[in-house]
Amino acid sequence: MAKCVLVSGGAGFIGSHVTVELIQAGYDVIVADDMSNCDLTCFEGVKKITGREDLPFVKMNFCEEESVNALFNDHQIDAVIHFAAFKAVGESVAEPLKYYGNNLVSFMNVLQAARIKGSAVLFSSSATVYGEPDILPVTERSPRQSATSPYGNTKQICEDMLRDSVKAYDGLRGIALRYFNPIGAHPSALIGELPRGVPNNLVPFITQTAIGKRECLSIFGNDYPTPDGTCQRDYIDIVDLAKAHVCAVSRMLDGKMKEDYEIFNIGTGKPLSVLELVNAFQKVNGVRLNYRFAPRRSGDVTAIWADPSLANRELGWKAERSIEETLAAAWAWEQKLANK
Ligand code: UD1
Repeated sequence: MAKCVLVSGGAGFIGSHVTVELIQAGYDVIVADDMSNCDLTCFEGVKKITGREDLPFVKMNFCEEESVNALFNDHQIDAVIHFAAFKAVGESVAEPLKYYGNNLVSFMNVLQAARIKGSAVLFSSSATVYGEPDILPVTERSPRQSATSPYGNTKQICEDMLRDSVKAYDGLRGIALRYFNPIGAHPSALIGELPRGVPNNLVPFITQTAIGKRECLSIFGNDYPTPDGTCQRDYIDIVDLAKAHVCAVSRMLDGKMKEDYEIFNIGTGKPLSVLELVNAFQKVNGVRLNYRFAPRRSGDVTAIWADPSLANRELGWKAERSIEETLAAAWAWEQKLANK
């Protein structure tokens, strides 16, 4: 019988791409989401891509302990992937308790249920835990630095909750994946990123500017100590990133873990500056982008990119898609949205 994976926050950007890859790898998937930051567009897209019109969907808030317990009682859940969280860095500074309340309580409920039911736990963490690194690229052994936002702090605390729980409770096991900068969209253009309001992240801002929804892209800072003065990041294709989850789930469920709690960097290992990304977008899509240089954005780190060799070796996973393919997919998705 196929193993069953619960995807909390499964209607969102990363969750929907992960759901597609899990189904295509033969897993049964239950998608759960409270729809607080998305609509059904991506869930419908997932059903189309996979041909699974009957894909189970549960509308629920993971902060409600009883609902979480009921879900785990009603289904045999072999693994849970936890995406259900708030993710806007700026908002988390303005409303820290909203972030601590939601992101920590929901994960707590997931961990409690997983402990009782023996489900494996995959937590979606972030490269934000490394702060401004002294040495690049960062490995999983690079020190975490104190978080610069409540959002980042919730990622660190959730990692610690998972680590400590695995240590204390027999049979509980888990993996934290530290994502670098996930971008792009599914090649079908049926699912992608759907930011509400003005996008905070670079690529949605670029595609919205190119389509005419925004007047001009501000490049935050061109006086950083980098080759072209703009920040460097490790932009990881969303489909590649999604595939890493399938590898991690199978590692947990097929008894391949070396420790009961493991951490993996999910990135390409290649730095790209904001300006390089903007130029690549213009070139591959044949569009001109209106941009200007603006002051630095507070809280931004100068440069960060992954050493993904542990994930390459242990998960048997590697980023495969080129930045050109990724930026073409992001643009195709934006155009599709505009034609809707
Ligand atoms: C942020 C979060 C990270 C989160 C990630 C994905 C922090 C410090 N950062 O990463 O935790 O996982 O989003 O949601 O917590 N830029 C512009 N103009 C724009 C937007 C961005 O120049 O309009 C630049 C930024 O200065 C940065 C780069 O583009 O250098 C990437 O920015 P962004 O997409 O927001 O991601 P991060 O800040 O790296």
